[in-house]
Amino acid sequence: MSEFRLRPTAGLPARPRPCAWPCRARRLPLAAAAAVALAAAVALVLPLPARADDAQKARAEEIVQGRCFICHGMDGESSSPVFPRLTAQRASYVARQLADYKSGKRASETMQPMVVDLTEEDFAALGRYFESKPARWHEVADPQLAQVGAFVYARGNPYAGVPACASCHGKDGHGSDRLPRLAGQHAEYVEKQLGRAAQAEAAAGNPVLHAVAGKMTTLEIKAVAAYISGMP
Ligand code: HEC
Ligand code: HEC
Repeated sequence: MSEFRLRPTAGLPARPRPCAWPCRARRLPLAAAAAVALAAAVALVLPLPARADDAQKARAEEIVQGRCFICHGMDGESSSPVFPRLTAQRASYVARQLADYKSGKRASETMQPMVVDLTEEDFAALGRYFESKPARWHEVADPQLAQVGAFVYARGNPYAGVPACASCHGKDGHGSDRLPRLAGQHAEYVEKQLGRAAQAEAAAGNPVLHAVAGKMTTLEIKAVAAYISGMP
């Protein structure tokens, strides 16, 4: 503790003072200086960022336990293909989708009431929560169909102008800060999203996926969805 009893200015940030000498900040009363020193000492003893992390995690757990788990499972491993898997999904993507459900930018009668009373901080906490859950491996229902899907995923359909999914979502389907993880997602959900994106009304909301899905045949959609469902 002795290093905190040095000068009255100990523990203050070393930035230029806005006032000229003799400046008030320079003549900081001893009590205030002691308070600063004490705060610095406390910050050293308790790792504050870790405690903020814990609080964020606890808040996310509370929300998931209170409402999300019914459909998505406690760890995001939703068992019904009607509900998307959130396990290991990108935190930034989850947070953005939740904000879009709240604002109505992404329309869902199911999801909108789930998030309407939550804040941006809650969305960030939920994103980190699901991202931290380890992905699981799932068996593919139709391996032959998935083989066709593997080609579409890696190379697209060059004869019809369908780009490779891998070029945006990554070879392993793990996504990026800007793009969702696809690996391990329910085939039915992926099919539904692609089918929806292909429709004319989706052009404004998601122009990128609209351009991709609009060129795909039913076989390509079902095949790539089957392949994605088995990606680790
Ligand atoms: C009653 C069932 C239900 C509950 C409860 C529920 N969800 Fe959902 N969730 C859905 C459905 C259905 C969709 C797909 C909606 C769509 O097509 O946009 C979805 C989509 C999502 C998505 C988008 C996933 C993606 O891959 O794009 C996220 C993120 C999400 N939910 C998180 C949550 C969170 C967090 C909660 C709790 C606050 C929650 N959900 C509660 C049914 C539910
Ligand atoms: C040019 C880049 C690009 C390519 C190529 C691409 N996507 Fe996407 N994909 C996106 C973007 C952008 C989004 C929307 C992200 C968002 O809403 O923030 C998206 C979203 C999705 C979603 C919705 C995810 C969810 O959880 O709801 C699915 C499913 C998807 N893409 C599948 C595919 C498949 C399958 C292919 C290959 C046939 C493909 N994408 C090719 C850019 C791309």
